[in-house]
Amino acid sequence: MKIYVTRPIPEAGLNILRQTYPHFTMNPEDRVLTRPELLAKVKGLDGLLSLLTDKIDGELLDAAGPQLKIVANHAVGFDNVDLPAATARGVLITNTPGVLTEATADHAWALLFAVARRIPESEVFLRAGKFQGWGPLMFLGGDITGRTLGVVGAGRIGQHVALRSRGFSMRVLYSDEVANLNLEKEIGARRVAFEELLQEADFVSLHVPLLPGTKHLINAAALKKMKPTAYLINTSRGPVVDEAALAEALRNHVIAGAALDVFENEPAVHPGLLELDNVVLTPHTASATIATRSNMASMAANNLLAGLRGEKPPNLVNEEVWEKRRQIS
Ligand code: DGY
Repeated sequence: MKIYVTRPIPEAGLNILRQTYPHFTMNPEDRVLTRPELLAKVKGLDGLLSLLTDKIDGELLDAAGPQLKIVANHAVGFDNVDLPAATARGVLITNTPGVLTEATADHAWALLFAVARRIPESEVFLRAGKFQGWGPLMFLGGDITGRTLGVVGAGRIGQHVALRSRGFSMRVLYSDEVANLNLEKEIGARRVAFEELLQEADFVSLHVPLLPGTKHLINAAALKKMKPTAYLINTSRGPVVDEAALAEALRNHVIAGAALDVFENEPAVHPGLLELDNVVLTPHTASATIATRSNMASMAANNLLAGLRGEKPPNLVNEEVWEKRRQIS
């Protein structure tokens, strides 16, 4: 079996691959492969372990060839994969759900605190030697305890972000196509329309997948509906937010602040955001804990091996491929 890993991943995942395929190959450099490099590397592969920065589309799948059985994505999100193109070619696609839920929820809260209490901004001030002593008007921020948290998308990560609000006696609103009864029962969260959530929440935290219907869900109109004292947190996918509209809204104090871990055109960040103090920016590191990334790597490796053994991978996202194979056999 010919296997390729597009960039070094934690040892835990590589060890799993090594046990069965000691001679698998990997891009040895810690960087995203260019498109021509990736197209050349996939030729003749049976299995590919990809990252969210690799575009997996029809062109790439054709470059790999008809023997390609599985692409195991090292991420829970798989918007980098053209799922219909993979399904049409009978290629199994897998992701890494669950193992990054807690770390991502923790990071959403870290961002919430950082922006509301102006942590990065005040730290830069202090390191620059500008701290001349306590001041009653210095770095006044927003309150968290007792305020309203609005969770957009109450799936795995959204739910865990909401549950963490218990320590801060917050009222929790959520918007989702389906009710999350556990959240309602556990913390009295109330499911409301997206508009109502925008109008009521002091913190709006985004946890939706990137789909045609969620692209620019937060645009100029949505930002105008938020309170001028509210904060936006995004740990989902960058294009869910219209970055130009957000930069404009932050500049004009339409909302109080934003904290973003994901960006519309990664690794680029809208230049308007980089100039502002009322925004906190992290480089898509919400799942970046040692244990979480090791678990993601192990999960992706196990998915890949299962697919190559002809078994149904545990985290298959295009069931249709498996169903079709079952019917044929
Ligand atoms: C994912 O897995 O989709 C995150 O964005 C990165 O861990």
